[in-house]
Amino acid sequence: MLRVPVHKIEPGMVLARPIPSPNDPRRYLLQRDREVPVDLVPRLLELGVYEVWVRCRSLEFVEGLIDEGLSEQQREVYVHVRRNFEAMLSGQAAELDIGRFQTAIGDLFSFLKGQRCGNVMLEKLDAFDNYLMSHSTNVCYLSLLVGMKLERYLIAERSWKTAREAKDLQLLGLGSLLHDVGKMRIPTEILHKPGRLTEHEMDVMRQHPRLGFEMLRGQAPPAAAQVVLNHHQRYDGQGYPERVDARTGDKMAPLAGRQIPVFARIATIADMYDAATTKRCYCDAKLPVQALYELRTMYQGAFDPVIERAFYEVIPPFPIGQIVQLSDGAKAVVVDFNARRPFRPKVQCLRSPTGERFADPSLREIDLGLYPEVEIARVGEVEVQPFQRLSEAVAAPPLQVEAIDDAMPLEVH
Ligand SMILES: [Fe+2]
Ligand SMILES: [Fe+2]
Repeated sequence: MLRVPVHKIEPGMVLARPIPSPNDPRRYLLQRDREVPVDLVPRLLELGVYEVWVRCRSLEFVEGLIDEGLSEQQREVYVHVRRNFEAMLSGQAAELDIGRFQTAIGDLFSFLKGQRCGNVMLEKLDAFDNYLMSHSTNVCYLSLLVGMKLERYLIAERSWKTAREAKDLQLLGLGSLLHDVGKMRIPTEILHKPGRLTEHEMDVMRQHPRLGFEMLRGQAPPAAAQVVLNHHQRYDGQGYPERVDARTGDKMAPLAGRQIPVFARIATIADMYDAATTKRCYCDAKLPVQALYELRTMYQGAFDPVIERAFYEVIPPFPIGQIVQLSDGAKAVVVDFNARRPFRPKVQCLRSPTGERFADPSLREIDLGLYPEVEIARVGEVEVQPFQRLSEAVAAPPLQVEAIDDAMPLEVH
């Protein structure tokens, strides 16, 4: 099967996986094995469905790589978040349903641990009809993936806990799922404003971590609440919230580096990546390779280098199943991810440089890690060579996993 952007659907393409309904992700708009009606394309785009999986006889093995259970687990988390958030917004519920979130996160985590593909990002939710809720689910998923990669680091960074407690990701999942919950307290005209925000509106938006932290006070454990409070606090000390001494009212120095709780440092990069790769009212979604390029080049110093490196090891710039054009003109599909050389995955050629179709792409497999003379040139209409060259040129930060004595939890009130 192949990932196909919805605007590229052609007559005769048959769904390899069902398309979930954006209004109720536990139901389907179209079942698997159905031909996708081309005249449905504008409606799918309107509903926030940008990519579908279609059948490709010679690539059936890709189906085995991407377990459908993953998107089911993600949708399960989404449904709980959505139900509770909507009940709160309409005044039918006064509190966050922390217990139910914990159960859904536990199920998602158990699923991720048993995945055949290891802990690599395979797919995240489309925007469905509500950005805040699908974004929350995606940041939770990405944070768990990165956390799973960093067990030793978490033990060092949370040294006041037993090793078992320190690497327990439940509260990372909860904090990252609720990281933007404070946006429910931001006026809708600012939250959904299509154009640029004024300076005053930006100031209002910057209140959402603190508003969320207040909402969680007394309801969620501090480790989760700290993720909510600090998910916009950058490693280099930039970002927000502003810290004020509760007794004197004096401004305090911002948290920076390892003063920022490690779970928040993980959620920060997951948050920025998901925001960049999701279509919103004021900007288009970027390709994974474009978003990774931006994180690596425009936000230098913003992230904990250890976490940043783990992030690049779990987020493929070219997802499995994506169709790409190689620098020699051949068309190929990505069939594997190379964590050591993420920009050089294994591909199988679908068409030759002259356009000749290959009946069996498995006979035309190229490990780009072994062939430096060929690289991925385009994804759809986007030229990706400049992104990947520059991204590769930025040296990978060294992995440091030594214990840090002064890494103590910080309570900010
Ligand atoms: Fe946020
Ligand atoms: Fe966010």
